[in-house]
Amino acid sequence: MKHFLIAPSILSANFSKLGEDVTNVISAGADILHFDVMDNHYVPNLSMGSMVLKSLREYGINIPIDVHLMTKPIDQLILDFASVGADYISFHPETTEHIDRSVELIKEHGCKAGLVFNPSTTLNYLEYLMDKIDLIVLMAVNPGFSGQVFIPTILKKICKTRKLIDNVNRNIDLSVDGGINTSNIYEISKAGANLFVIGSAIFKAPNYHKIINTLRCILSKT
Ligand code: DX5
Ligand code: ZN
Repeated sequence: MKHFLIAPSILSANFSKLGEDVTNVISAGADILHFDVMDNHYVPNLSMGSMVLKSLREYGINIPIDVHLMTKPIDQLILDFASVGADYISFHPETTEHIDRSVELIKEHGCKAGLVFNPSTTLNYLEYLMDKIDLIVLMAVNPGFSGQVFIPTILKKICKTRKLIDNVNRNIDLSVDGGINTSNIYEISKAGANLFVIGSAIFKAPNYHKIINTLRCILSKT
């Protein structure tokens, strides 16, 4: 079976008891935590900064954390998040003047680097970066909010990206973020994704074990 990773997006967690909620989702089988950073400038919403990630690490959360920057600019935040224990840092190419420099900055500080593509952003940005990046994230909703509906044309974009990855001899994860649930995860994995960012479908479910097991069970049929 292919190696699939489930990354609950803590944007949908209960912020009044974040440490406890995150601990519960990890014991239910989360592989990675997805940490959405929004600045009310690049996206019309405001979420959390590096202090929150630092607190989660101090609380004892030790699984990999994937920081998704939806901010402009990004370079100072790369340094801030790398210094408090981020494992992956991903950003949208249009949020920096110098994409390669920002990728280098992430790697110099010991993190894996990811590029995130909005639903209508072209994949052309990948052309000169396939030898450096560790993660490609395809947004299946417009960034800014959890609980939105998956845009179906993204399935074609996933197939196209999978081909690009298969053409290079490197380990690059292909992640999809937004609108994933039990009714579409099968098609998304079939199209070629191996990392699934899931917010509301996990955190709004009554039982984290049950929902993560159901998702894994569907993935095992791919
Ligand atoms: C949206 C965020 C997503 C979001 C996903 O801008 O990047 O990570 O939390 O939430 P769902 O799974 O509810 O669409
Ligand atoms: Zn995200």
